[in-house]
Amino acid sequence: MYSRILTGSIVGTDAEVVTVETDLSPGLPNVTIVGLPDISVREARERIRVALMNAGYRFPSKRITVNLSPADSKKEGTHFDLPIAMGVMAASGDISADEASRYAFIGELSLDGKINPVQGAIALAIGLRNRGTQKLILPSGNKQEVSMLRDIEIYPVEHIAEVEAHLSGFNPVAPYSGRPGKAPEGQPLDDGDFADVAGQEGVKRALQVAAAAAHNILMIGPPGAGKTMMARRLPGILPAMTYEECLEVTKIFSIAGQLQSEGGLITRRPFRSPHHTISPTALAGGGTKPRPGEVSLAHFGVLFLDEFPEFQRKALEVLRQPLEDEKITIARTSATVTYPAKIMLVAAMNPCPCGYLGHSTRKCICSEHQVLQYLSKISGPLADRIDMHVEIFPVPCEELLADTVNYKRMDSMQMRRTVEDARRIQIDRYSEEKISYNSQLTPPLIKKYCPLDGESKQLLKMAFETYKLTARSGQKIIKLARTIADLGKNDKISSEHIAEAIGYNRYFAMGNTYENHR
Ligand SMILES: Nc1ncnc2c1ncn2[C@@H]1O[C@H](COP(=O)(O)OP(=O)(O)O)[C@@H](O)[C@H]1O
Ligand SMILES: [Mg+2]
Ligand SMILES: [Zn+2]
Repeated sequence: MYSRILTGSIVGTDAEVVTVETDLSPGLPNVTIVGLPDISVREARERIRVALMNAGYRFPSKRITVNLSPADSKKEGTHFDLPIAMGVMAASGDISADEASRYAFIGELSLDGKINPVQGAIALAIGLRNRGTQKLILPSGNKQEVSMLRDIEIYPVEHIAEVEAHLSGFNPVAPYSGRPGKAPEGQPLDDGDFADVAGQEGVKRALQVAAAAAHNILMIGPPGAGKTMMARRLPGILPAMTYEECLEVTKIFSIAGQLQSEGGLITRRPFRSPHHTISPTALAGGGTKPRPGEVSLAHFGVLFLDEFPEFQRKALEVLRQPLEDEKITIARTSATVTYPAKIMLVAAMNPCPCGYLGHSTRKCICSEHQVLQYLSKISGPLADRIDMHVEIFPVPCEELLADTVNYKRMDSMQMRRTVEDARRIQIDRYSEEKISYNSQLTPPLIKKYCPLDGESKQLLKMAFETYKLTARSGQKIIKLARTIADLGKNDKISSEHIAEAIGYNRYFAMGNTYENHR
């Protein structure tokens, strides 16, 4: 007596098809699961035995061998309970093996036969669908998450008896069709609108430039200047995600176990702001049961690192690969796992340890040595990946109070429209290249797409001398100038664009920040 049941197994953020082969043979009653099950899968034996008996089914007194095929890849997670239970029932004739073979199954069992939601349901559903599965029986608690998926029928169930009644035709479950089936619209602005921010026109402009090409940006300013307030509003001016991007983000949250139980597809760009005490593992992902970390939870969105110099050096080093490659590879004992991590990095810091260097009314109490020490923490390869440095000064209290009529404050919707236009220009320009945005320009591509006129070259040369810029800064300035030109719908980069871009690369280049702010 033998049966085959289909399910899946998570690999990174993808899923492979797994066949559960179940064999019943005479002998001492016992259950063996082979095919590299981890501890959570091996524990399925007990859950399944008790769940089947409590639900009123037989648990065969036979030698039961379960093989999870392909046998050479690791199987993790509790979603194997239901397919293994189906395997046992099909092998013992309690359900029709023929009927069961038309479906794939995922679900965790409770001891009373209830079917609990599982982590990574949408990743499993996408992986199975892409490999030919047309019908999926899954926990009712996962139906919202999977409902937006096209080209697969889903059958949500709450109890093992419901599955049996469905397969026997006695009481069929209707395929779930609560799916809206359309691409998401714009980003809802739950995190506040830029119209809430008084003044700060320069910073808003800088953030718009950053958003227009996903340039990484560092904001420097004293406590209360509005750094956090403005960073939070950034996802609201980024272009809406495509359907495929929404699926990708939902998959990552699902695998990380971070989807709200009745939450459907995630359509908002993520905004992640881990505390500076975060461990390198929590930032990168990994662990014995691999989970995406904060860099992957911020995929297609914003990773906001407040108090940037306070992060452990090891934690910041984790960011290098994602900022270069848009993904992160984590070495594990048995194999490596790769998660996507295409992020826009937004960092914030005080100008000095006490926070008030350069403040108009409060006095800084730090020594020059302390300030330089503090600034030196953010030098190096990571700093090279940050295209923009923007200084923020608090809007004076009188001004905040006086500015009650926001007569010409730009709101997030207006800002986003401009950003979207600039992104479209870039996508068109780079349609033949491997990149989509200016922030991804490499030196050869800068040569090709960012020619400078005489005046621009002159200005850049002057900046090099005045601010002692590095070659890296020079490249950043040209990339930024390209973005600034695109925001203004200009084909050619002009000296004005270069001048604005230099402004975003001056803070550290001056080399005498301390003197300049005393
Ligand atoms: N330009 C501004 N317009 C309106 N409110 C502001 C502005 N700047 C600061 N605030 C107020 O001050 C609070 C503190 O700002 P926050 O963003 O936390 O500062 P930071 O992160 O720089 O320390 C904000 O929550 C907001 O209420
Ligand atoms: Mg803050
Ligand atoms: Zn200070």
